[in-house]
Amino acid sequence: MQKELKGKVISLAIKKVVKALVQEFDLTPTMRLIQVGEDPASSFYVHSILSAASNLGCKDELISLPKTASEQDLLSAIQAANADSNVHGIMLQKPLPKTMNDSLINMSIDPDKDIDALHPLNLGKILMQEDGFLPNTSAAVYYTLKYYDIDPAGKNVVILGRSNVVGKPLANMLLWKKPYANATVTVCHSRTRNLKEICQKASILIAAIGKPNFVTPDMIKDDAILIDVGINESIQPDGRSIYIGDIDYDACYEKALAITPVPGGIGRITTSLLYLNLVKASLIAKKINKNVDEYIDLKFSENHKK
Ligand SMILES: NC(=O)c1ccc[n+]([C@@H]2O[C@H](COP(=O)([O-])OP(=O)(O)OC[C@H]3O[C@@H](n4cnc5c(N)ncnc54)[C@H](OP(=O)(O)O)[C@@H]3O)[C@@H](O)[C@H]2O)c1
Repeated sequence: MQKELKGKVISLAIKKVVKALVQEFDLTPTMRLIQVGEDPASSFYVHSILSAASNLGCKDELISLPKTASEQDLLSAIQAANADSNVHGIMLQKPLPKTMNDSLINMSIDPDKDIDALHPLNLGKILMQEDGFLPNTSAAVYYTLKYYDIDPAGKNVVILGRSNVVGKPLANMLLWKKPYANATVTVCHSRTRNLKEICQKASILIAAIGKPNFVTPDMIKDDAILIDVGINESIQPDGRSIYIGDIDYDACYEKALAITPVPGGIGRITTSLLYLNLVKASLIAKKINKNVDEYIDLKFSENHKK
């Protein structure tokens, strides 16, 4: 296994699957992206999503609501997207204004168009190991294991972080009874005692807490596989802004068996997975009579080159 687990190659393999499915089933997958306000970091992410569409044979429509938009305005925009049969997937850019009820908004998205897996039905399907949409970041970790042939079956996997978007769905995915899962999973959070000792027992340590360089060499065992989900802005002495992970990459590199970089690791894969979910949504809309997840898995295995 190579030491640095790069995300770019996985992203390319997923894009190949997206293009192959678009061609094979003559799809025009169309995403409606809804943004409230113009937060610069959110706008940067939105534009990186939009710029990927045409190369993949997909279409995007951006609905920009002003930051003064009410909760009802947003619900109306989501309902319009739910009702529009030309829209296959809905992507709601977060964070929403603090005045809005996140849970109410998440539940208003049609679960069959929920390509960012915000609806509780899709999160519940993960628990039950049923076909649905996977949150892109958790799926990025899963595809990293799959691509680099890291089988967590029976191993101690420790996840730092229990958020609804990363830690919790990922923990449940790794408990699935299928290849690249079947792990013995421990989830840690800010109230966990003896966190260092727990991490030291991890064969695979996944960090998703949003604390720069939190994981240090004394916290990992020899030959641990380290997967870094964290993306933290760090202002350098010269004023430059860079992004670093939750794992101290330089310090842990020698001791680890393999490690994902930041940037260029997990974050690099998420946009491709959003489009994979979009293709899946358009297959569902076309009522393609296939086990979509199994078919996507097969295509991924055919298309990825290690
Ligand atoms: N790569 C990507 O595409 C991607 C996507 C999403 C997020 N991210 C990044 O992933 C990180 C986590 O994101 P998130 O949305 O899951 O964050 P979040 O909602 O803020 O959750 C952070 C989690 O970390 C736990 N935590 C915080 N400090 C801790 C500590 N000292 N020890 C142990 N646990 C601690 C929290 O515990 P409590 O529950 O007890 O508060 C919480 O469960 C962030 O850096 C974010 O930028 C990356």
